[in-house]
Amino acid sequence: LADLAARFGTPLYVTSERQLRENYRRTYAAFASRYPDVRILYANKANGNAAIRTIVTQEGAGGDCFGLGELELALRAATPPDGLVLNGSNKGLDELQKAIELGVTINVDHPDELETIAKLAETAHNTAKVNLRVLPFSFADPESLDPDLATIALDRSHDKWGMDRPTVLASARRAIALPSVDLRGLHIHVSRLRSTTAPFALASALMVQCMVELRDALGWTPSVLDIGGGFAHERDPESGKPAGSHAVATIESYADVISSTLLQGCAAHDLEPPQLWVEPGRRLVSNTTVLLTRVGLIKRLPTSDTTWVNVDASTNHVMRIPLQGYHHEVVPVRGANRIRSLVANVVGPNCTLDLIAEERALPCISPGEYLAILDVGGYAEAFVTRFNLIPRPATVLVAGDCVDVIRPRETVDEVLAGQIVPDRLRVSG
Ligand SMILES: Cc1ncc(COP(=O)(O)O)c(C=O)c1O
Repeated sequence: LADLAARFGTPLYVTSERQLRENYRRTYAAFASRYPDVRILYANKANGNAAIRTIVTQEGAGGDCFGLGELELALRAATPPDGLVLNGSNKGLDELQKAIELGVTINVDHPDELETIAKLAETAHNTAKVNLRVLPFSFADPESLDPDLATIALDRSHDKWGMDRPTVLASARRAIALPSVDLRGLHIHVSRLRSTTAPFALASALMVQCMVELRDALGWTPSVLDIGGGFAHERDPESGKPAGSHAVATIESYADVISSTLLQGCAAHDLEPPQLWVEPGRRLVSNTTVLLTRVGLIKRLPTSDTTWVNVDASTNHVMRIPLQGYHHEVVPVRGANRIRSLVANVVGPNCTLDLIAEERALPCISPGEYLAILDVGGYAEAFVTRFNLIPRPATVLVAGDCVDVIRPRETVDEVLAGQIVPDRLRVSG
């Protein structure tokens, strides 16, 4: 890592191809060894780099696409369209048209969207493949649940997406009646970040209930159940807690709970288990990438106990730290096992506090050393901002001895190139 930092400069994202392939294979094996028919759809939003997309496509992943950009990304990486889904709470006509034209499955979020899709497909003399996005906890009886699960079931803060129990039943009835719509299945996403399996067990059980109700009311059963993403990986920066300080489920235990709940539920109600689609994002990419940064000025004022370690990476490059309180481990690239005798704030160069790590135990570090900010493969590069006109870092992909730049370092010229000063404002002469 120190060699890479010296060769390519800092800040620098470094992604491990081997870790990415291992993550994919482990995730696929976890589900495929427990459930008869499984497809993994990588959630492109977590990291939309074209090289990452190409690798997961090579491994066999389909994709969850929000918007035309993510759809195009997946197509350019030669991902077969029948393994793609289009998600979103307010999809544009151009997105819907493209999905219908390509045979991409649309996860429908609203009854009116279903009508629009039907009209577009009819006009194109085509059939639209759709799943209905279900709010699984709308099928729960909160009073019968443990307090923790009842809190989840009663939390309506994510109702921006999906349809509740009565809306799903009405939409399924309508979709079946629409000749230009092929209602394939159901979709859910346990969107609040959860590092344990309990919400997934509940959601899976409720989806069995949903399937039973649809079968009994309409005689229809889904051939696909897309259970979305939301699976933490070991160090779980999204929790906002230090790695190792809390329980985090393994992908095998997520797969176990989901598969056994669905299979037992289907068997108990005489339902054919649908094909299972899984949309992991952060679980596949988070721990593939570190952000290397160089230590600059270290400040200790005579009147204060605080040590400020200035680095050249910024929260601009790990935006979910200030946005959502993610906790990323920060370790020195050399001598990571030195005694951690220093407690310091690690801060970036932008004009906010730019606090990357607060009161962190670190070894005694010196200016010029490199630090690695861990687990930034998911939702860091995807969220980069250019606040203070700071150019975005480069990204390199490492595979054994091979190192490739998969995103060049941006220059200040490039940052400014996208801006236009109207001619009338230019000083003449
Ligand atoms: C519909 C859907 N699927 C999958 C994901 C990926 O989630 P995660 O990265 O937590 O696995 C998201 C994240 O927002 C999502 O909205």
